[in-house]
Amino acid sequence: MAMLEVKVPDIGDFKDVAVIELLVKVGDTISVDQSLVTVESDKASMEIPSTHAGVVKELKVAVGDKVNEGSLLLIVEGAGAAAAAPAPAPVAAPAPAPAAAPAVPAPVAAPAAGGGLVDVVVPDIGDFDEVSVIEVFVKVGDTIRVEQSLITVESDKASMEIPSSHGGVIKELKVKLGDKVAKGTLLAVVQTAAGAAAPTASAPAPAAPAAAPAQAAAAPVAASASVPALPAHEPSAAKGRLPHASPTIRKLARELGVPLEEVKGSGPKGRVLESDVQGFVKAVMAGQTQTAAQKAAAPAGGAASGGAFPGLLAWPQVDFAKFGPIERKEMGRIKKISGANLHRNWVVIPHVTNHDDADITDLEAFRVLLNKENEKSGVKVTMLAFMIKAAVAALKKFPEFNASLDGDTLVLKQYFHIGFAADTPNGLVVPVIKDADKKGIVQISQEMAELAKKARDGKLGPADMTGGCFTISSLGGIGGRYFTPIINAPEVAIMGVCKSQIEPKWDGKAFQPRLMLPLSLSWDHRVIDGAAAARFNVYFASLLADFRRIAL
Ligand code: COA
Repeated sequence: MAMLEVKVPDIGDFKDVAVIELLVKVGDTISVDQSLVTVESDKASMEIPSTHAGVVKELKVAVGDKVNEGSLLLIVEGAGAAAAAPAPAPVAAPAPAPAAAPAVPAPVAAPAAGGGLVDVVVPDIGDFDEVSVIEVFVKVGDTIRVEQSLITVESDKASMEIPSSHGGVIKELKVKLGDKVAKGTLLAVVQTAAGAAAPTASAPAPAAPAAAPAQAAAAPVAASASVPALPAHEPSAAKGRLPHASPTIRKLARELGVPLEEVKGSGPKGRVLESDVQGFVKAVMAGQTQTAAQKAAAPAGGAASGGAFPGLLAWPQVDFAKFGPIERKEMGRIKKISGANLHRNWVVIPHVTNHDDADITDLEAFRVLLNKENEKSGVKVTMLAFMIKAAVAALKKFPEFNASLDGDTLVLKQYFHIGFAADTPNGLVVPVIKDADKKGIVQISQEMAELAKKARDGKLGPADMTGGCFTISSLGGIGGRYFTPIINAPEVAIMGVCKSQIEPKWDGKAFQPRLMLPLSLSWDHRVIDGAAAARFNVYFASLLADFRRIAL
């Protein structure tokens, strides 16, 4: 086995360029043409391919090193050199900084003084001869800037984006996916702006590609004309500009169908790394984020589209006005936020709901008596306050209900903050009674009344609604029998309560009229199992049936 040196080939204008990524490590088996390192000048980045196949024995460069043509990159133990073969072409990609000199030089096109139609052709792309168009970034009618990427071409070795030599409006697009192009192939006919013929120093926006012709014939068109607002998940570049990523990462993104411009780059200068693409895919699969296309396909309120759930039908698009008069009403802020949270919780958490009943005959009599005695104090004791105390006792007895999932780890809380769902004119909110274990029924009733008022007045602050361990959702003042409440993540269970009713209960000798409270406990099956949930419900109901048990 021969030890072979792999050196930097002729990389044209790239002199003293920094190594910014190592794409192989000692022990890797590599093939001829496989990308070894990415180098970056202030203008563009490029991947350096291997001239030999074999096993990497030594790496001679590290991230940050400066290299030139001829610099030793690594030692390979190979079956034979590919020395006879022509050196593979390095793969260029635009860098984020505005450029004065091109990595992919664009030709000087016909001047367009006073505005006019100009032909934009494929510039000299070196070893790329007769390559396939694999991406088309623009369409007829688009306003483009000088240096804006028009297409991506790919040979069997590498891919490259081809920038425009002119800014203006695309009148005709002369290529489509799958076409073969070479130097001089006509790409588009562009209507340039009047008086925009002279090259100008006004650089493209910072994230624009650097593969730019110094001799560009047309002035850049204002970027704001075609750049939409940034999507919420902080993409690496605004749409219409190129994300900063190496060709390998672009290829990976293309293969996975990842919209690279929506991926936030964590590398130097916001460069998108392989781990960023992987993280984005994971987040989309977990439903933590959506691509812009998924958002666009989703109905108002963010319901899922088939994009996030392959195979699921798209939301029906119906022209309701065809069937009768309608009014369109934008959902309020709280409804949008709570809707998105509820949707995520419903989709992500495997919910199960157990129903049970609590005999609250004696407790209700006690509550009525208390309120009579305390009439003058102005504090009304509610059934919900008793349920909050009962929830604390049940959480103490069954600690896995007072928990949150953090990956594969269960976070068990030693505090007892209980949330209660409050219906407000603007939507559902969940204020939290902090340290409910340290408070009495009257104090809890009082705090609940204050928080419920704040909620109705829209005055709850974040501190009022965070830190909850367990939630109670009471529809008791309204009606109904049972329901299936959605868990308020990152909590793992929620108690739903409906209206109590007098029901005949057999005491062994006769039916007795008892006041029964319907309970619906939803729980996260990843954390809790059915037996524990049934025990929780039985214990919770037993506390309400005989509140003295809480002191045990
Ligand atoms: N069974 C029978 N009656 C009940 C009851 C129950 N489970 N719970 C409350 N009531 C009665 C109360 O005693 C009260 O009657 P009164 O005026 O004669 O004394 C009446 O219903 C109204 O009670 P309410 O003002 O609702 O007080 P509360 O302490 O029960 O609830 C809130 C306070 C803030 C939770 C409640 O107003 C609320 O917003 N509930 C809706 C929660 C929700 O929307 N959940 C759904 C989430 S999916």
